[in-house]
Amino acid sequence: MSAASQQRRSDARRAAPELLTRRLRLRPWRRADEVVMAQINADPEVTRHLSRPRTPVPATAFYEIVTAHWEAHGFGFWAAEARTGERAGDLLGFIGLGYPTFIPVLATRVEIGWRLARHAWGRGLATEGATAVRDHAVGDLQLPELISIIHPENARSQRVAAKLGMTPTERVVHPMSGTEVDVWTLTRPSAAQSQAPGAAARGGAGAAPPRRARTAPR
Ligand SMILES: CC(C)(COP(=O)(O)OP(=O)(O)OC[C@H]1O[C@@H](n2cnc3c(N)ncnc32)[C@H](O)[C@@H]1OP(=O)(O)O)[C@@H](O)C(=O)NCCC(=O)NCCS
Repeated sequence: MSAASQQRRSDARRAAPELLTRRLRLRPWRRADEVVMAQINADPEVTRHLSRPRTPVPATAFYEIVTAHWEAHGFGFWAAEARTGERAGDLLGFIGLGYPTFIPVLATRVEIGWRLARHAWGRGLATEGATAVRDHAVGDLQLPELISIIHPENARSQRVAAKLGMTPTERVVHPMSGTEVDVWTLTRPSAAQSQAPGAAARGGAGAAPPRRARTAPR
């Protein structure tokens, strides 16, 4: 990568806002996070309802792809770090926004997504972080709509989407797996009506205009 390109990436990461909730710090990615994400992705319970790519994505591709999405669009997936408890400072997973280019019929709509290490499940952390991301998306970024792509048997993820005010609107076929997935949708007016607890401070830049981009296959 050229020095100019590296500088642009560095600038994009600096521009990424940090979102703080009571228990989470949603922050830009560090190269070292790939090790933890690889461990999280190696847990079959975590990936049970995810449509896997036919060819495994190398751990390093995740960092590059996520960072490139931030650079192109001014939003993307945040690294979700614990702020409290014994694991304060540890990376727990990711929560954020992306163009789901792995499903071409949905590629121009912005997805809100989440994935956490199993030890972090069941304490409302995904909902807490996703609430802050939703509010940033419909407030600061003024995105008119968010979608979430959820396997019909992924009850935990469905609960997170429902608590964000999303509803299932469509069912599409995931081209990588051939399985059907549900599209959950939230439009901006309904998002504005519910301000769930947990979302708090944020800072940083606004978004670039929506364009097509690439996200890691999930
Ligand atoms: C989906 C995921 C992020 C949820 O994280 P989390 O921090 O446990 O989520 P929350 O605690 O905020 O909410 C989970 C909800 O599921 C409910 N839940 C927990 N266990 C459940 C189960 N076995 N069946 C159904 N619902 C369950 C919880 O009760 C909670 O709902 P409630 O607040 O109404 O009680 C996490 O399970 C995960 O990373 N899964 C693997 C990756 C994944 O599937 N990502 C989503 C792809 S669409």
